[in-house]
Amino acid sequence: MKFYLEEDGHQLEEPLRGQLLCAATFCAALEGLDPARCAVSLSFVEPEEIRRLNREYRENDSVTDVLSFPQFADLDELRAQPLGDEEEILLGDVVLCLEKAKQQAEEYGHSLEREIVYLFVHSIFHLLGYDHMNEADKAAMRAVEEEVMERMRLLRKDAPEQEDAAGANMHRLYAAALAAAEQSYSPYSHFPVGAALLGESGRVYTGCNVENACYNVGICAERCACLKAVSEGERKFRAIAVASPKGDAWPCGACRQFLAEFGTDLSVISGPDAAHLECHPLSELLPKTFTL
Ligand code: THU
Repeated sequence: MKFYLEEDGHQLEEPLRGQLLCAATFCAALEGLDPARCAVSLSFVEPEEIRRLNREYRENDSVTDVLSFPQFADLDELRAQPLGDEEEILLGDVVLCLEKAKQQAEEYGHSLEREIVYLFVHSIFHLLGYDHMNEADKAAMRAVEEEVMERMRLLRKDAPEQEDAAGANMHRLYAAALAAAEQSYSPYSHFPVGAALLGESGRVYTGCNVENACYNVGICAERCACLKAVSEGERKFRAIAVASPKGDAWPCGACRQFLAEFGTDLSVISGPDAAHLECHPLSELLPKTFTL
């Protein structure tokens, strides 16, 4: 999922950015689209600006939480788009008012993060042709929103966040890995992969796969993240999450060996989405590790 972000002075903290990308990826996948080829733009605006847009485009002179501007009338029109090999589909623009989201989060008694992700999910489904004009449409839209929020899992009040043996937050690390896949350079395999490596210091190093016309010199996301960490002075790690918008992406043999150099009690986290994560110590994925 390509993400065009217009922050307009609102600095979006990294975990939230990852959550939004993760959510957008699940929305596209749920509708059978290839998330790796979809793009969405998100802008944060002040209350006065969203009021102006609401007045101009919806004839409603009030401050609202979020507005969606689709590029396509519905999914059929979107799917009928002739696409070149490397082309992406821009689903449309989402405009969100942080002030309003803050107010609503307080009213509903949940986190601002949950509110922003929910509003974003809601508006992406608008971009994908859903609406809530009548009860049946509203129920259908609600069902897909619930499904994505469930896959995000960490945002549900009643689902405890899952932690690995070392206390790493698996969902957050997975979301960071999926967000890192956005930078993937994979024109040959079309298989984007992202990794997020949690160091002992608490710092997270992300990486993506970078391919090459000379295939064997390309590099996997895990080794990319690990190289960044080691080159910045960190050599002890607690956990690594690996993610692809295409589904599970467990580390290949070469990456297992590469990571084992720095210890095999590392937790390795992956899964098809944030609600179905598995966690295995590296020692289990690479038994009888070669050492000198
Ligand atoms: N890939 C990774 O980045 N990590 C893995 O653990 C498995 C594979 C990449 C390498 C290549 O760019 C693409 O996925 C397809 O093999």
